[in-house]
Amino acid sequence: MVGLIVLDFRVGKKVLMFFKSKQLIGLDIGSNSIKLAVIENSGGKPVLDGFYFMPTPGGSVNSGEIISPPDVANALGSLIQQAETKKKGICASVWGGSVVVKRIQVPRMDVKLLEEQIKFEAEQYIPFNLSEVNLEFHVLKKQESTPDSMDVLLIAAKKDLIMSYAEAVEGAGLDLTTVDVSGFALSNCFEFNYPNPGANHIGILNIGFSACNFVVRHAGEVIFVRDIPFGGYHFTEEIRKNMGVSYEEAENLKFGAAGEDSPPEVNENLLNAMESFLEELNRTIDFYMTSSSMSTPIQRFYLSGGSSVLPGLKDYLENHMQVSMEVMNPFINIGFNPKNITPDYMKQIIPYASLAMGLGIRKKGDES
Ligand SMILES: Nc1ncnc2c1ncn2[C@@H]1O[C@H](COP(=O)(O)OP(=O)(O)OP(=O)(O)O)[C@@H](O)[C@H]1O
Ligand SMILES: [Mg+2]
Repeated sequence: MVGLIVLDFRVGKKVLMFFKSKQLIGLDIGSNSIKLAVIENSGGKPVLDGFYFMPTPGGSVNSGEIISPPDVANALGSLIQQAETKKKGICASVWGGSVVVKRIQVPRMDVKLLEEQIKFEAEQYIPFNLSEVNLEFHVLKKQESTPDSMDVLLIAAKKDLIMSYAEAVEGAGLDLTTVDVSGFALSNCFEFNYPNPGANHIGILNIGFSACNFVVRHAGEVIFVRDIPFGGYHFTEEIRKNMGVSYEEAENLKFGAAGEDSPPEVNENLLNAMESFLEELNRTIDFYMTSSSMSTPIQRFYLSGGSSVLPGLKDYLENHMQVSMEVMNPFINIGFNPKNITPDYMKQIIPYASLAMGLGIRKKGDES
């Protein structure tokens, strides 16, 4: 077991200044791969010093849950060796069934008073025993609130989940300094790179292996976070089961789907899976629209995650949803260390890097 954990559960606080000593390493523990973003300060400007990733040890992580912390610790140990950094502070993020983000309305009150009251409010909305969770809240500034009430985003993450992250990180000889929620870290990455997006109502879809993290930003703040249980695994699985091939073969067929000699069945299966994904996505968007009583639709989507570059997916979503889609570039506002990184490498990792980058721009004890 891990020792005493002093955890800083700080959800989505922004970083505007870069101090070398306090800069944390961004760690994204995915079901398919583990990613590490090391950002340094160079004359007050952020520079990507290194980006490292490796396949997640089989079965050790699933849908945001760490099943085997020792296996993740081993993998992380070898990644940090590659990184050759003296830093030990890690910023990681959680998502999945043990994390709840809920928008609630509370009577208008002073934030200091809300800090005391939030537990009582949370009791009604969080489906876990409050002694088992870390709790955070954000008062939403620009939403429709009345003189008597205000909108608050309630965020809870089970302590067990955070402990399993701490065990994995500490097992690799590192310190888990800050824990965020993945949706907020994605939003941080977006804000850092698109400070003037030209749209007020924006969706972010991080389509990974096991699921898709869906985030909505409105007037510059996160107002909705939800996971859609559909990712790269489900696309590959559709090919595997209908074409009678192994998972590895199906994965290769999926990667080659845009190629001229790709069998037509591959694209037919991918299209079927896209249809299922779209159904799930539309259901979640409907829920978001009703629960937030938002009258105007999301104006633009930014995509990230390995599956965001699945051949045909962006066009399919754009055509069926009649809304523009763009792959989020997490490197617009950051330089790179040419000793460790080439522009070509940076281009290749664009779809995989947004979450780790959103975490790696955090520093110890930062505030919004
Ligand atoms: N070029 C590509 N074409 C199609 N699919 C791809 C491509 N590159 C990666 N993928 C898919 O992306 C998925 C991995 O993405 P990612 O690294 O974002 O997942 P993860 O973060 O490890 O998983 P999760 O967030 O679900 O725990 C795999 O399912 C893989 O097949
Ligand atoms: Mg992921």
